[in-house]
Parts: sequence; structure tokens; C-alpha cells
Amino acid sequence: MVNMIYSISFKENIVGDRDTNNLVFSISEDLQFFKKMTTETTMIMGRKTFESLPTGGLPKRKHVIVSNKIKTFEDAKEILGKKYIENLTFISLDKLEDYIKEESKVANISIIGGAMLYSHFLKDKNLFDLVTNIYATEVDRIPEIKNPVKLMEHSNLKERCNFEIIKTGQGKDRLDDNNLVKYNVVRYFE
Ligand SMILES: NC(=O)c1ccc[n+]([C@@H]2O[C@H](COP(=O)([O-])OP(=O)(O)OC[C@H]3O[C@@H](n4cnc5c(N)ncnc54)[C@H](OP(=O)(O)O)[C@@H]3O)[C@@H](O)[C@H]2O)c1
Repeated sequence: MVNMIYSISFKENIVGDRDTNNLVFSISEDLQFFKKMTTETTMIMGRKTFESLPTGGLPKRKHVIVSNKIKTFEDAKEILGKKYIENLTFISLDKLEDYIKEESKVANISIIGGAMLYSHFLKDKNLFDLVTNIYATEVDRIPEIKNPVKLMEHSNLKERCNFEIIKTGQGKDRLDDNNLVKYNVVRYFE
């Protein structure tokens, strides 16, 4: 099983903040959902998303970084600095498809971002075909930030895929003074 998972400000397709390299929402229920979906899986992420995780990475999950710059453990130590962790796997973009084919025989895989990596999956047919589900938390708030990171390819998923709303909810957003925000968790599938 290969799942892609993200939260998105669906009206503007915003998934991140370029200036801080952080998420744009922090909704406890959504973070719990992310934890449930990714625990005991192999998480594949772009280098910047790895750098945005808490130091030490996330427990009970294998961390795989997609990077064309990191080729050796020495590179990883130098580039990732204090974020470097043991048991890290890194692969270049051109090896990603083969890696997923092999790894998915032994583990469930979660593609956890960021925009560059998601976008690549949504554009590259071979990679897109490997994805079983996309779980998108579609949040009804446009964050007020100067340099949003956008995932434009999200906008036509409803035309490309089958989909079902698996949860409709509202939660406090810690990045917006704990104001209540509405969201739908949508599963996209072939
Ligand atoms: N909303 C969400 O659910 C969610 C999830 C994750 C992240 N985010 C947010 O997204 C932002 C980071 O996203 P991002 O797009 O800037 O970075 P990213 O995809 O996390 O990482 C980009 C880096 O990964 C490698 N890479 C990944 N895909 C590549 C591609 N298609 N082509 C070439 N290299 C590729 C490159 O590494 P090298 O430079 O080392 O070669 C590239 O610089 C942050 O704000 C983060 O908080 C949001």
C-alpha cells in the first residue's frame, strides 16, 4: 500500500510556508490522523520536509529522504546538521520508482511531502500509478502568509480520481489563535 497524505488550504492550494519551511495549520485531530496513518510505515519525503520535522524525526516510522544532493552519509551529516538521525535512508529522484516497488513488498509506504515531491507524484504517471490512496485534509482557511508553498496539481484531483469524504470536522487551529476551522478529509483513489 502506498498512501500520499497532506493537509491543504484547498481554495488556494497552499500546503506550506516558504519562509519558515513549516506547515500552515496545526489542528490536533489532523495531526492525530497523520500519526495513525504513518506509524509503522516507511515515510518518504523531500529533504526540506525532513528538515521541518522535529529534531530526532518521528518515532516508529522509517525515514526516507528524496534528495539529489545527499549521496553519502557524510553529505547527509553536513547538509542536515543537527537534524541528522541514524537509520536514515536517502535516495535520488530517479531511483524513487524502483525504491517504492521494492519497499512496498515489505512495508506500507506513506508519501508525506512536501510540495515538490507531491507534485512530482501527481505529474509522473509511473509514480502516480503506484499510489493507492491520497488522503487530503482540505482545510477551509486561507493562511495569511507572504510566501506560500502551493500544490496546484491538487485542484483537478476530483476530475482525475474517484473520491470519498471520509470525515467532515472542525478543529482548533493553533497557528490561527486556536480559531475553529472546518475541514474535510478526502480519500482519492483510482
Ligand atoms: N501540508 C502538508 O501536509 C505538508 C507536508 C509536508 C511538507 N509540507 C510543507 O511543504 C514545505 C516544503 O515543501 P517543498 O516543496 O519546499 O520541499 P520538499 O518537497 O519537502 O523537499 C524538496 C527537496 O527534496 C528533493 N526533491 C523532492 N522532490 C523533488 C523533485 N521533484 N525534483 C527535484 N528534487 C526533489 C530536493 O532535495 P535536494 O535539494 O537535497 O536535492 C528538493 O530540494 C514546507 O513548508 C513544509 O512544512 C506540508
